[in-house]
Amino acid sequence: MARKTIAPARAITGAVEVPGDKSISHRYAILAALAEGRSEIRHFSTAEDCRRTLDCLRRLGVHIASEKDTVRIAGTGLAGLRRSRRALDAGNSGTTMRLLAGVLSGQPFGSTITGDDSLRHRPMGRVIEPLARMGAQIRARDGGFAPLEIRGGRLRPIEYTLPVPSAQVKSAILLAGLYAEGATSVIEPVRTRDHTELAVGEFGAHLERFDQTIRIHGGARLEARQLVVPGDISSAVFFLAAALLLPESNLLIHNVGLNPTRTAVLDALATMGAPLSLVSVHGSSGELLGDIAVRHAPLDGGVISGAAVPLLIDELPMLAALGPYTEHGIEIRDAQELRVKESDRIAALAENLRRMGAQVEERPDGLRVTGRAAGRLQGAEIDAHGDHRIAMALAVAALAAEGESVIRNAECVVVSFPDFFTTLDRLLER
Ligand code: S3P
Repeated sequence: MARKTIAPARAITGAVEVPGDKSISHRYAILAALAEGRSEIRHFSTAEDCRRTLDCLRRLGVHIASEKDTVRIAGTGLAGLRRSRRALDAGNSGTTMRLLAGVLSGQPFGSTITGDDSLRHRPMGRVIEPLARMGAQIRARDGGFAPLEIRGGRLRPIEYTLPVPSAQVKSAILLAGLYAEGATSVIEPVRTRDHTELAVGEFGAHLERFDQTIRIHGGARLEARQLVVPGDISSAVFFLAAALLLPESNLLIHNVGLNPTRTAVLDALATMGAPLSLVSVHGSSGELLGDIAVRHAPLDGGVISGAAVPLLIDELPMLAALGPYTEHGIEIRDAQELRVKESDRIAALAENLRRMGAQVEERPDGLRVTGRAAGRLQGAEIDAHGDHRIAMALAVAALAAEGESVIRNAECVVVSFPDFFTTLDRLLER
């Protein structure tokens, strides 16, 4: 599927379940590998990114069986990983590389971890710096880019204040902290997703949170668990947005993860006038999940900035692409991190939305997309720049445009949601 044609649609209706949350799947897999005993993880993400994490763990000597979306992992214990003779390949996955960098820093052997062209250009200095302070020796291309050569060893605990709000960096340090003698503290001045903290607690490590400080105690014994991964809210958002845009829509999305550090997108949409309701909310292994009901409604638009940004960072492409359909447009500020994701998402959004006829002002830390007054979007040829979220966000915007759009290299959606287009086609009414 090199090129995907998107024809306008009238409605999206029915019920859908999205794949397991990508962030949580990575963490459960890594912690299950480091635990003692056999873990079973159900509704594990089908994303290529999570498959990369499983492959890297296999190369480190972990036995993993996967069948559909159930993964069984025979944990090796904290000290049981083995050196991989070949370089570990994280593919497109920043989470795989950064979280595993934390684990590899605690190993008594050397490892190399690399990734695809996009990942080799993403900043790794942000994990190298704290992990080096803990005692790991890490060599990187040009000082801050993959491939990373990591010589692990005995780690010392640190107290580290995150200079950029990043759950990946926080998690790398906490995972390395499992190997340090004593208590490692991470201070996060701006809140980010807390799946690592919740999962580490579930697997039995000793972790505390006071205000902005998270403290983990090294040397704990992790115990195997039976877990179910909630649906990925970052994937669900594409269906939510489609339902809001298409006039006769009425959609129910089952079992979506509703961890409060991930639901800022629901607050943002509700503030803009989206009629969302949450049904059957319940807890599972420390995470919250429930069903989201949504139907079509006009959206006001608005400004997204400040502390909200890290809490909806992966949903910003979809929010920006809704901009031209809103009354007042959408403005995104304080989101310079978008420039170092799987693509430069600010540039990719501005370029593609303009191709569709939107009025966009691109800024160093975000963009302003003019609302409905600038006219209806026109079908166009979209270049997703190999970025799954750009491909899916523009595909949804294209459903409400005039005329067909074509998404080039649309197969990049496998990174987070391999069945995205078939699922979408099943629910659409034209
Ligand atoms: C993730 C954290 C976020 C997010 C990424 C997944 C995670 O990145 O953009 O898609 O699983 O921890 P940063 O922590 O680098 O902001």
